[in-house]
Amino acid sequence: YSLLSYNTFGIDVSAARFLEYASVEELQQLIAQGAVTTPFLHIGGGSNLLFSKDYDGLILHSRIEGIEVTEEDARSVSVRVGAGIVWDDFVAYCVERGWYGAENLSLIPGEVGASAVQNIGAYGVEVKDLITAVETVNIQGEKRVYSVEECEYAYRDSLFKRPENKSVFVTHVRFRLSKEAYYTLDYGTIRQELDKYPELTLPVVRKVIIDIRESKLPDPKVMGNAGSFFMNPIVPKEKLADLQQEYPRIPYYELTDGRVKIPAGWMIDQCGWKGKSLGPAAVHDKQALVLVNKGGAKGSDIIALSDAVRASVREKFGIDIHPEVNFV
Ligand code: EPU
Repeated sequence: YSLLSYNTFGIDVSAARFLEYASVEELQQLIAQGAVTTPFLHIGGGSNLLFSKDYDGLILHSRIEGIEVTEEDARSVSVRVGAGIVWDDFVAYCVERGWYGAENLSLIPGEVGASAVQNIGAYGVEVKDLITAVETVNIQGEKRVYSVEECEYAYRDSLFKRPENKSVFVTHVRFRLSKEAYYTLDYGTIRQELDKYPELTLPVVRKVIIDIRESKLPDPKVMGNAGSFFMNPIVPKEKLADLQQEYPRIPYYELTDGRVKIPAGWMIDQCGWKGKSLGPAAVHDKQALVLVNKGGAKGSDIIALSDAVRASVREKFGIDIHPEVNFV
């Protein structure tokens, strides 16, 4: 079964078996019939995966759809969303209805289920800020609802990413959006971009975010990629102070625990990697945090580039950067 259209990196690999289901009941039936055999891997939109070889097991994919309002008052709305809904379709739906909160996460590739596993984030918002609970079915076919606190969300991390929870499948995600206007506009150049518009509205913020993303991030339909390839490393303040001696203009974000997050893209750029290739793999020329498949790359080509980039960053800055993308 070809996985070419199930990974945005555009790696040409296949899986021994592939199963999709459109409801919780259908998933439970598949499990009861013994159709969910090991090894298995549950995927979403494939926008955060790097396959290095054919997958000798079962790939599972949710086609659970539906956006259902479960509670609503004058100030907010609670919705229950199928894991198989395309994330950006959900954002567009919220913006159309005048529901605030998701707009900064416009155009992030992938599906709703994976958004809750990965805690996707951009421009000062993380999806955990909107989630109230996550509905799951485990490999025994048992349902469980995790409250947002139970999900142990952190930067690009959750309970569901742990190896022991790979057999917990997200079926629906519950979100709360605001019906009262509020915006998160302090990241990067958002305010500057908004100055071009006469009015601050939800559709305008969505458009500005989409424009910023399109100017930096390659379209996977045109050039294979998985968004940010690395996570931004979190380091003690003392490490930043050391680096500031040599690089006074180093960008950073302060975290509430006193540590700082340093943009890996900036460091990779400083190492001279931006726009450079290693075989059919390259560092994107507009955002050094993104590795791209120039055409025909294998997983191993991307990994070779990733290793070379990591070694440069370690040598120049004394910091280890780690892939955000999941290697399979
Ligand atoms: N920078 C450079 N050169 C580069 C890239 C970045 O100097 O080639 C500098 C920028 O000038 C800026 C800083 O690094 O000062 C941060 O850059 P940017 O705002 O583009 O964001 P990022 O830290 O590189 C993160 C997320 C993105 C998200 C953006 C916006 C991670 C791993 N990545 O990137 O998420 O869209 O912030 O919030 O946290 C993704 O996860 O796939 C993704 C695209």
